[in-house]
Amino acid sequence: MNRFDNQTVLVTGGTGGQGSSHVRAFHAEGANVVIGDIDAERGAALADELGTRVRFTHLDVTDESSWSASVQAAESAFGALNVLVNNAGVQNPPAPIENTDQATWSRILDINLTGTFLGLKVAAPALRRAAGGTIVNIASTMSLGGTAHYAPYVASKWAVRGLTRTAALELGRDHIRVNTIHPGVIATPFIQEPAAGATMAIADFYSPDPFAIPRLGEPTDVTRLLLFLTSSDASFITGSEYVIDGGLLLGPALQTETA
Ligand SMILES: NC(=O)c1ccc[n+]([C@@H]2O[C@H](COP(=O)([O-])OP(=O)(O)OC[C@H]3O[C@@H](n4cnc5c(N)ncnc54)[C@H](O)[C@@H]3O)[C@@H](O)[C@H]2O)c1
Repeated sequence: MNRFDNQTVLVTGGTGGQGSSHVRAFHAEGANVVIGDIDAERGAALADELGTRVRFTHLDVTDESSWSASVQAAESAFGALNVLVNNAGVQNPPAPIENTDQATWSRILDINLTGTFLGLKVAAPALRRAAGGTIVNIASTMSLGGTAHYAPYVASKWAVRGLTRTAALELGRDHIRVNTIHPGVIATPFIQEPAAGATMAIADFYSPDPFAIPRLGEPTDVTRLLLFLTSSDASFITGSEYVIDGGLLLGPALQTETA
């Protein structure tokens, strides 16, 4: 008996660094998995590789009709939808607010925030039809403070927190739990983008040396937390936020010599 036998999970951004890790783990634990992403080539390849109990659906999270088609695809392939992971997200090119054009602002808000809103909106009735379920929204440690040159991203991820809490209140009586995960710096293509005011990548900018646990996060670190939160072991947890960052938000660890 696997933890997710007879459960159907939709992972947005399911071909990305973290998303594909989540897809693989849910599948390994018995779930039917729907990979939702705009990258059809990677989506088809991952679905082919995993074989049975997996479908790829072309999902642009900014488009409500695309959401409706994807949720419908999940229900017609597997009978019900039980779990939604709102994982798709993009970073803005780093720039101070005064140099950030409105198109960039809107694009980041559209994908990270409106995409999450639409996911909640369209998936909630499906989870209700399944007699309950769970949703996890992937935010960021940047949802918990300010980060210069990342205003659109920071604002979008802060807003996801309010959305999560509101959805948890609205859906709790229908046996639908909604929670947020705040990853720190996780080793995926996402952190290979250039950091603010520098030619170096975000991964180098956020050197893990001062973290309490001095390494970058791996996608599987986040996956293990996600699987706990979406499992029945977390049945009393809703509207909550989980930081997984190796201690990044604690501030720099003291460098002490030990004999
Ligand atoms: N990597 C990190 O350090 C880090 C830290 C904190 C939070 N996050 C968040 O984790 C999530 C996953 O990021 P990742 O690290 O796997 O990055 P990634 O770039 O590897 O994956 C992002 C995925 O989102 C997909 N995507 C982009 N726009 C989309 C759209 N309109 N509709 C559907 N899919 C779309 C991409 O195709 C890609 O597969 C994101 O929400 C990101 O903001 C990442």
